[in-house]
Amino acid sequence: MIKLFKKKNQTEKLICDQRLQHIAFIMDGNGRWAKKRGMPREYGHTQGAKTFKLITDYCGEIGINTVTVYAFSTENWKRPAAEVNALMDLFMDYIYEALEVMMKKDVCIRFIGDKTPLSDNMKKLMADVEEGSKNNTRHLNIAINYGGQDEIVNAVNLALKQGKTEISAQDIESNLYTNHVAMPDLIFRTAGEQRLSNFLLWQSAYSEFYFTDVLWPDLKPEDIDKAVADFYSRQRRYGGL
Ligand code: FPP
Repeated sequence: MIKLFKKKNQTEKLICDQRLQHIAFIMDGNGRWAKKRGMPREYGHTQGAKTFKLITDYCGEIGINTVTVYAFSTENWKRPAAEVNALMDLFMDYIYEALEVMMKKDVCIRFIGDKTPLSDNMKKLMADVEEGSKNNTRHLNIAINYGGQDEIVNAVNLALKQGKTEISAQDIESNLYTNHVAMPDLIFRTAGEQRLSNFLLWQSAYSEFYFTDVLWPDLKPEDIDKAVADFYSRQRRYGGL
């Protein structure tokens, strides 16, 4: 039996084992967090970006090998231009610092989603970060202009281009944006909504789900500990007995 909790420097520290290797986050509630403070939605996203760093770092500390975050969906372009621009600026700020930070933390970054409508500068910087970090052993996938349906259609089209005339599940899986990592063990959504919102539709076939009312900018490592404990109390049967 693998120990979940390990003593380190007199404090109990949570360490996950191979049953929980990949957590995917739907980072919801930035707008409501800002509204509660009488601030514009953009302020919520700025705080959300800080929480993203805090939570992804914490997941690394507790032994999670792969983290995937839903940062911008294919539907988020419908938001007011000022909000879309603020989000793109936050992504750019992060991309500028990402390579240096990820090399220190041994993390391979991939930006998953359809990059076509992103600016040339952003695409170039993303490619540099992906290339520079590709041999690192842990994984961070940031979904930008990502849609699960779009990803499956894209995977089928890639398989057709590879000469397939009949498509198998394996053909789809090997062409997903996440073909370099295992399927998510846990999908974690903040801010009370209990839906997938077009996130990781294929990959979530056997994922466990965890929902909390906590708004993303308020999320703390203790909330991750609660979700992890809840995850370990469940039995995953993958359709078997
Ligand atoms: C959904 O909450 C959140 C988003 C559409 C944006 C998520 C982006 C971040 C947390 C920033 C991540 C930063 C980096 C660098 C990856 P919402 O705004 O729809 O909240 P609401 O439902 O309360 O309105």
